Amino acid sequence: MTLLKSEIDTQNWGQDLAESLTGGTVIALCGNLGAGKTQMTKGIVRGLGSSADVASPTFTLVHEYMDGRLPVFHFDFYRMESAGEVLSLGWDEYLDEKAVVIVEWADRFANLMPEHTRWIKIEALTPDTRTVEEVHSHS
Ligand SMILES: Nc1ncnc2c1ncn2[C@@H]1O[C@H](COP(=O)(O)OP(=O)(O)OP(=O)(O)O)[C@@H](O)[C@H]1O
Ligand SMILES: [Mg+2]
Repeated sequence: MTLLKSEIDTQNWGQDLAESLTGGTVIALCGNLGAGKTQMTKGIVRGLGSSADVASPTFTLVHEYMDGRLPVFHFDFYRMESAGEVLSLGWDEYLDEKAVVIVEWADRFANLMPEHTRWIKIEALTPDTRTVEEVHSHS
């Protein structure tokens, strides 16, 4: 468990994580509203060498950042009505790419997540501090 004392700490943690990522990695980011899942995604994307401006996927449902060392596909299951909606976006094809797939709120449809998913749990301690922990499954 690591203590993250600011938004910048959270981004930097993601940036460090990015160094070890290989194509086909799936990252599940779990934590309440405002926990810092999008901030961490910013850091991961930056750490892969992309200069993209990361924001939560809304209307487009999946954001694609293609200008780094590996492509990144960024999903937010909070926006999805059902597992079927995720599948209809071409979920299986995204997983087959040699890319990094990042999913905010992955625990909403945990059964869609592959066995090799890396589950990262972020929790707010105070308005400015968070804990982050890599866990072995979502529960
Ligand atoms: N230590 C911290 N780490 C990350 N964010 C922090 C921290 N301290 C304060 N914040 C603030 O908390 C908010 C985190 O927002 P962010 O969009 O990353 O959350 P989220 O988990 O993606 O939320 P949502 O569930 O709505 O997608 C930002 O406004 C950020 O400035
Ligand atoms: Mg978010």
